[in-house]
Amino acid sequence: MRRFLAALLIVAALLPAAAQAGLYDSTMILVNKQNALPKSYEPDDLSYVDIAYAEGVPATRKQLREEAARALERLYAAMLEEGIEIVGVSGYRSYSTQSLIYNQRLEETSLDYVSRYVAKPGQSEHQTGLAMDVAIPDWPFLTTDFALTDAYAWLTAHAHEYGFIIRYPETGEEETGYAFEPWHIRYVGDTAAELRESGMTLEAWYRRRLGGSHARREARFLLPTGSK
Ligand code: DAL
Ligand code: ZN
Repeated sequence: MRRFLAALLIVAALLPAAAQAGLYDSTMILVNKQNALPKSYEPDDLSYVDIAYAEGVPATRKQLREEAARALERLYAAMLEEGIEIVGVSGYRSYSTQSLIYNQRLEETSLDYVSRYVAKPGQSEHQTGLAMDVAIPDWPFLTTDFALTDAYAWLTAHAHEYGFIIRYPETGEEETGYAFEPWHIRYVGDTAAELRESGMTLEAWYRRRLGGSHARREARFLLPTGSK
């Protein structure tokens, strides 16, 4: 019996990445400096997001996972109806794309800056296909000036109605590990309303949930490697 179990464990460890992928497919997945995705993880339902984009955005980064893509299109249409325009700057990024960005930013700036603004490969929400960086057409750059725009004001008031949260809020650096990124919106689905109402970061929400044993059991299916 023991030998059988050992064999089973070995087989599980050797399972191809595709077979393990389901582990990381929750729209509530927590990816941060403590919880990394495997290099091989790639969502299998990436879909083109039909919104406007900043110039030069590569086609691969115009994708999100199916559910998030459709939700972002609805959010975008609602903004347009109120005369507010945004452009997509960066959606899905593979592990290797993140690696390129991380190393490039390290060469251009300092480690201190990079650790506050750029995730190491495996630690980026962009690899989940649930996050999109947005800007305005007149200033299609990812700077904190975005926080002064009507677009950002709209997002803080309404993004949760479409399942999105402002993932790295101004006061959240200690919890999230990243500086204020008004441009980075993350799809979480229905829980967005609760997060918006409570003002909790995703990390704080998880900490609270992990308090109870039921939540602990549940979290095993939601959290990637390294979480307790
Ligand atoms: N800018 C965020 C933290 C990322 O690189 O995923
Ligand atoms: Zn981002």
